[in-house]
Amino acid sequence: MLLVKTQLGPSPIHGIGIFANEFIAKGTVIWEFTPGFDVYVNPDEVQRLPAAAQVQMLKYCHRERETGQYVLCADDARFFNHSDQPNTYDLPGREGPTVAARDIQVGEELTCDYFTFDADVLDKLRGD
Ligand SMILES: C[S@@+](CC[C@H](N)C(=O)[O-])C[C@H]1O[C@@H](n2cnc3c(N)ncnc32)[C@H](O)[C@@H]1O
Repeated sequence: MLLVKTQLGPSPIHGIGIFANEFIAKGTVIWEFTPGFDVYVNPDEVQRLPAAAQVQMLKYCHRERETGQYVLCADDARFFNHSDQPNTYDLPGREGPTVAARDIQVGEELTCDYFTFDADVLDKLRGD
């Protein structure tokens, strides 16, 4: 779950993005997987969902490179957009945490590098 104050808004990158609502110092933990809140979903469960639900899952989940499992963030963390110059990164480990790569000012969009954690990155960035 998100551990800093954020808000959603229109993004210059794509659609809706997530923006800092407080100053976030470099190294601050921004997000971590929280059992009982964020959820893992097996690919076969996704396959059994109705088509419209699959579309939502494939857009808002990421698929772990190590396990192939989908990760569904239960809060606004599902609105992180990709950037080639992200201001966050994941520490090694299955469940993050995600930390600030540099100081982030109020109003800056929070971004991450999908290539580092999402097995479906090419599908995600193909456009919609
Ligand atoms: C987790 S959602 C992010 C929230 C999304 N912006 C929205 O409005 O719903 C992932 C989707 O956002 C889009 N996206 C994120 N970063 C992008 C980027 N750098 N370039 C193009 N599309 C991007 C892709 O369509 C991707 O499937």
